Amino acid sequence: MNSITRIPIKLVFRGTLIHSLEASHVQILENSLIGITESGTIGFVKENVVDDSKYESLKTQLGFTDAQVVNLGRRFIIPGFIDTHAHAPQYHNAGTGTDLPLLKWLEKYTFPTESKFRDLKFADNVYRKVVRRMLRNGTTTCCYFATIHTDASKLLAEIVTRAGQRAYVGKVCMDRHSPDHYVEQTDDSVRDTEEFITAIKAANNPLVQPIVTPRFAPSCSDKLMKELGALSHRHNTLLQSHISENIDECKWVQSLYPQCSSYTDVYSHFDMMHERTIMAHGCHLSETELRTFAETRAGVSHCPVSNFTLSSGALDVRKALGMDVKVGLGTDVSGGYSASMLVVIRDVIKASNSIQFNKPTDQEKKDYSPVGFEEAFYLATVGGSKLVNLQDTIGNFIDGKDFDAQIIDPFSQNSPFDVFDADTPLDIFQKFIFLGDDRNVDSIYVKGHFIFIFFQMMNNTNTN
Ligand code: GUN
Ligand code: FE
Repeated sequence: MNSITRIPIKLVFRGTLIHSLEASHVQILENSLIGITESGTIGFVKENVVDDSKYESLKTQLGFTDAQVVNLGRRFIIPGFIDTHAHAPQYHNAGTGTDLPLLKWLEKYTFPTESKFRDLKFADNVYRKVVRRMLRNGTTTCCYFATIHTDASKLLAEIVTRAGQRAYVGKVCMDRHSPDHYVEQTDDSVRDTEEFITAIKAANNPLVQPIVTPRFAPSCSDKLMKELGALSHRHNTLLQSHISENIDECKWVQSLYPQCSSYTDVYSHFDMMHERTIMAHGCHLSETELRTFAETRAGVSHCPVSNFTLSSGALDVRKALGMDVKVGLGTDVSGGYSASMLVVIRDVIKASNSIQFNKPTDQEKKDYSPVGFEEAFYLATVGGSKLVNLQDTIGNFIDGKDFDAQIIDPFSQNSPFDVFDADTPLDIFQKFIFLGDDRNVDSIYVKGHFIFIFFQMMNNTNTN
């Protein structure tokens, strides 16, 4: 696989850093320095380095005399976003087909589109565009579902590698209740998944890893479920799927597995509930099921843009977090129409507010504390890092972690919001969260490497 040659360089950024150390509020470090080592890790973070002589002596003291220095000016740095659930092929449909509930939506729009990815030229065009779109929106880590096609799934991993994004890429598995033009034989699905895992690992890019991907319980036979659960253990990989997204889907699962006590119990039965598991949605999970998530350390990818658009339901994030369930955020492109995690963050807040205003009594409304913008930002960064088990590597700016970051320019040309003299740094950050978009993303870094996405990368002559 063809990765970009990197020139090792030490970097120091001088200016404002904003990140989360805890869920309830962001930490804003003004006049700060962050030093990045040649291997892309955070060498140091120093706050309040106002005068230049102190700054120069600190640089020398910390062994960064020869570093390239970037003065942020009025820009600020935040951690890269972690999208814990996205369907790369569905980017083709993003912003269309929003009129049907899940099961009809899959049949009418999703399966026909995904089946086209047997054509590698078609796949190449869409996959370049989705990876570029994710990066432009500041998503430095993404958990991708591809399709059932092994070659096209490998191509997605190659494109992600060339782009420099951190990612988990899954070849989708489905051997039943699927259209004739888009279904696998059980043995082929298992063999192809193992081949895919081996190929991605052999490419030896630590930033891009395979993830075992049963589409959801209704699409996979018992034999396939059992084999895929076992593969995730044998190869020590992450596993991703969907759970409890929509009421009709939940009823279907109940009818397929009358012997299981819940949807979660189905996945438990096939040894799929473990600390490397990411289940998308979970809108209708019971308290007992949430307890299983907490006990097994499986995580929920909350995808509110998708849940509102397909009218699926709303996860009670406050309740899940209160029960110590790991929660990250996902765009769920294209159930979710936007590739932007900022759009997801805004809908996390709305979903949480809707849980509050739907409480039956005034007292219950008063007792409920909805998720605000600072906590939603935490979920998009630190929360996501826990789902992919990289909480010691990414998510915020702590010495020794990898530098996965976005430089945000609130004063960029065509910025979608205005800043006034009275605005505090927190106000400006909040305006970015509610009003900002990719026009404010000045540049991004993954493991300390500048991502060239905004320039020449991925020149593409195929305009289909
Ligand atoms: N459940 C099974 N497949 C899918 C999918 O592609 N998107 C969503 N949102 N839910 C699913
Ligand atoms: Fe999904």
